[in-house]
Amino acid sequence: MQSSVSQSQNGAAVVDAVLHRHGGHRHALVQILREVQEQTHWLPRAVLTQIASGVGLTPAIVEGVASFYRFFHLEPVAAYHLLWSDNITDRMLGNRTLARDLCQRLNIRPGAYQTGALASVGFTSCTGLGDQGPALLVNQHHVITRMDAQRVAELAELVRAQVPVSDWPADWLRVDDQVHRSDVLLAGPPPQGDALRAALARGSEATLAEVMQSGLRGRGGAGFTTGRKWTLCRQAPVTEGGTRVVVCNADEGEPGTFKDRVLLTRQANAVFEGMTVAARLLGARQGLVYLRGEYRYLLDHLESVLANRRASNLLGKRILGTDGFDFDITIHVGAGAYVCGEESALIESLEGKRGTPRIRPPFPVESGYLGQPTIVNNVETFCAATHIALRGGAWWAAMGTPQSSGTKLHSVSGDCERPGIYEYPFGVTIEQILHDCGAHDTQAVQVGGPSGVCLAAHEFGRRVGFEDVPTAGAFMVFNQSRDMFEVARSFSHFFAHESCGFCTPCRVGTELVARRMDKLAAGFGSLFDETELRELDALMHGTTHCGLGASATNALRDTLVRFRPAYEKRLQEPGFVAAFDLDAELASARRVTGRDDAQAHLERRG
Ligand SMILES: Cc1cc2nc3c(=O)[nH]c(=O)nc-3n(C[C@H](O)[C@H](O)[C@H](O)COP(=O)(O)O)c2cc1C
Ligand code: SF4
Repeated sequence: MQSSVSQSQNGAAVVDAVLHRHGGHRHALVQILREVQEQTHWLPRAVLTQIASGVGLTPAIVEGVASFYRFFHLEPVAAYHLLWSDNITDRMLGNRTLARDLCQRLNIRPGAYQTGALASVGFTSCTGLGDQGPALLVNQHHVITRMDAQRVAELAELVRAQVPVSDWPADWLRVDDQVHRSDVLLAGPPPQGDALRAALARGSEATLAEVMQSGLRGRGGAGFTTGRKWTLCRQAPVTEGGTRVVVCNADEGEPGTFKDRVLLTRQANAVFEGMTVAARLLGARQGLVYLRGEYRYLLDHLESVLANRRASNLLGKRILGTDGFDFDITIHVGAGAYVCGEESALIESLEGKRGTPRIRPPFPVESGYLGQPTIVNNVETFCAATHIALRGGAWWAAMGTPQSSGTKLHSVSGDCERPGIYEYPFGVTIEQILHDCGAHDTQAVQVGGPSGVCLAAHEFGRRVGFEDVPTAGAFMVFNQSRDMFEVARSFSHFFAHESCGFCTPCRVGTELVARRMDKLAAGFGSLFDETELRELDALMHGTTHCGLGASATNALRDTLVRFRPAYEKRLQEPGFVAAFDLDAELASARRVTGRDDAQAHLERRG
């Protein structure tokens, strides 16, 4: 492995080459930073200054952008930067103990870079491998699945021997799809190009009518009708020389969700074909995929699928010999920020800025990427659109329920025998999924990730769909041994960590919730704290700027209602209880004054 010293010596040449590749465009800033850092290992000030002058921005702006993203390092990191996925399901699989063991073997402290150390070890939000965790992200590029004590011991040896990651056991880097139930989307990819040919033969208006008739709703969470979104974008005027833009949201940052990972692995052709169909209906020339940084390992595979489509005249100029049908897709890799899954933050990031959600209106369909009419859709939505373009809207609408047509992929993890991907028509009961994945003695299911809904056993007859239990795709199972307060507490930390800080109710609110949950966990909770938590929930629900803050207390609210005993055992009394033991804090003062009699102590109650 090359040392970071020699890498930084090459920094200037690396920056020049990357700037040249991106034509010095400032809206490519996030990609420029990422590509430079892949070679320099971290981003020293001199590198940032050189990038700033290359893209025509001030160093302060470039540093402001770089500091927004968790995967950009403004301080040195070790040659092996190891990040443990830290979703609640990873914790259930023992990631914290394994991380401690690894640090001991490498003689380092977690979360800090020690000068001269070969490795740095830390934690990061869910890396999208909940079905085969605990997972480890290496240098924000490689993923290791199924970590256990033996792998930790061997990994420590490999690091000590400075073996390049590419020479680590191939089995460690293996990511399995783990599809346990398929329906139309996962049954097998439709023949490449057929959906596009069908759309061209039918015509754009008629194909859009099929998408409308299908009733397809977005799979990214909000469930907006896809045909309506596309119609609004198609109607939005385009400035002279401009174009409409098709964006695929492959950020998949909701903890416990990994179905887009599997679609991109198995069905990338169908996803890109859906984008190309949309481009035809909208008259768009530009397509972008926003791939989460944690899925960097998929980049080569996706680029090769795109290259193959270009070679088959399914992308590029005069697609399938059709005059005026020019469209191509580029992939933008994110850099570790959950909020960038929110569509307007995602567009900001695509434009090379901090991922701060925009004020709306205008909505992206009117003014999105670089001010152009833009649709943003989830990976699964584009995949479904391909099948609809091929087989028609009525065929899709015949599956599922009246308000939730078609099928839906579920990423199942947690306490079950067969974690992985399950595809069902909408309307499936929670019970059915639990049965199929081999879950026993289930206490609760978190549907849709931390921002979704937590259901208790008496609700397992409820059905997945926009009419009842909506979902963006996560399905985390908790058996009777799990402490649902700890589940909610870990989610509260996730939101406090991921808040972009733009608006006060979320920036401060998420932090206050996390601290109060910690106070309860430490045994200092009171009914007063519970009231405060409820008030914070009510306040954040109506006042935050984007959906992150609005859904940050969902798990708290749900678990307070359904699993109150888990909170009750932590509540001491009705009144205010300090978050720390004041008498213990005064011990040093007592030592200094040489007094330890009864009067030198604060009165203890109870
Ligand atoms: C904090 C936050 C994170 C989000 N993350 C994602 C994501 O990772 N993937 C996604 O498709 N949608 C995500 N969304 C929803 C998007 O804003 C948007 O609604 C979606 O991409 C639209 O596509 P669809 O209509 O196909 O669902 C997120 C929303 C919020 C508020
Ligand atoms: S709600 Fe949170 S994530 Fe969204 S804009 Fe406000 S601070 Fe940022």
